[in-house]
Amino acid sequence: SDHLNVEDVDCTRLAEKYKTPLYVTSKKALKNNFNELKEALDNTYSNNRIHYACKANTNISILKTLRKEGSYIDAVSVGEVYLALKSGYEPSEILFTGTSVSNKELEYLVEKDVKINIDSISQLERLSKIGSPEISIRLNPGVGAGHHDHCITGGKESKFGIWEDKIVKAYEKAQRLDFDIKGIHMHIGSGIRDVNKFISPMERMMDIAGKVSNEIGIEFEFIDIGGGLGIPYKPNETSLNLKGYSEEITSIFKSKIEEHGLGNPTLALEPGRFLVGDTTILLTKVNDKKSNPFHKFIGVDAGFNTLLRPAMYGSHHGVINATNPKNAGRYIDGAKETEINKKVDIAGPLCESGDLLAEDRPIKAKIGDYLAILDVGAYGYVMSSRYNSRPLPAEVMVEGNKSKLIRKRETLEDLLNNQVD
Ligand code: LLP
Repeated sequence: SDHLNVEDVDCTRLAEKYKTPLYVTSKKALKNNFNELKEALDNTYSNNRIHYACKANTNISILKTLRKEGSYIDAVSVGEVYLALKSGYEPSEILFTGTSVSNKELEYLVEKDVKINIDSISQLERLSKIGSPEISIRLNPGVGAGHHDHCITGGKESKFGIWEDKIVKAYEKAQRLDFDIKGIHMHIGSGIRDVNKFISPMERMMDIAGKVSNEIGIEFEFIDIGGGLGIPYKPNETSLNLKGYSEEITSIFKSKIEEHGLGNPTLALEPGRFLVGDTTILLTKVNDKKSNPFHKFIGVDAGFNTLLRPAMYGSHHGVINATNPKNAGRYIDGAKETEINKKVDIAGPLCESGDLLAEDRPIKAKIGDYLAILDVGAYGYVMSSRYNSRPLPAEVMVEGNKSKLIRKRETLEDLLNNQVD
């Protein structure tokens, strides 16, 4: 058809069948992303493990698909552990990395027998009174990176992990408390497309791992270097060079384990965005059009209740007219934004001025058209809310020429759930 497709399915048909706003995921893209990364790593250091950072997208169909491909899990809450277990992951395949973790949560994790990545010395002490699970400890390597200040998780301003001045003490304490010590971990931030940004934290961490290992005699079963692999969102942005990334990190890894005599640890990674980001689009219907002397607005049925990233981080997501992709602007026909003088803002239905999904885009659309917001597989649905009392959207997975509802749209009655009067 002339419409936009996801795999072999016409998006406008999906929009009509399942209504909008609608998240649509390509199963093929999901599998490809995983296998592309896995292959790149296998080529350079085969003793590796990919833990999908499921905070990016916890739909259980996605969790199950990735498990089939060979993924492990990075979980950040009891809820994520619960969903991973429900999706068939073994406890041993789950590493929990939380912050500000309560004793109640620790009890659940111990009961379920998942690995726990320790974020603070207090957490270690509290955990010792509950059980002695397999643990690793999260290091703040003193450096971070990310696409937005909110997404930098290493360095002075970060609340995460344990600073290097206390890391040996933390491991000593873990030994004294009889924990089964398995690993060391860091995660410097999210949305990093420049391989060089990973280098110095990586070296730093490996040196600290060496220090811990040699000073107090710990043999690490795994060394987890976190996630953060970025994807391009704007047409002029380049992808992370996967081969380069893999070669760079594994060469540091190998030379440092040799230098410090660290044995043969598993290299663990925790990508979220890289695995799911570009697998999913958000279909939204054009409800309205208007203009003032300064702006043209296309009013759609998805807002920051549906996709928070533009409002929260000023993030850019591509937009295509799914009904008439020829009018998609630069994404399809290569037109430059400057060649089109009628730029529009894509506005949501919420009663807030910040409710714009995209600004100044060369989009043409009629009322009733469907727009596709691109690259929303990571931190899309999971960050949605019922703000303005709008029920949560539906999710669909496409495989070849078939589509399957993987999460029902909420109804108005759902807005009464758990309300008591
Ligand atoms: N590991 C840890 C410990 C993390 O905190 C995160 C992300 C990841 C792995 C996965 O990072 P990724 O590979 O997806 O970059 N909501 C923000 C992103 C927040 C990321 C939080 N932590 C966004 O929409 O950009």
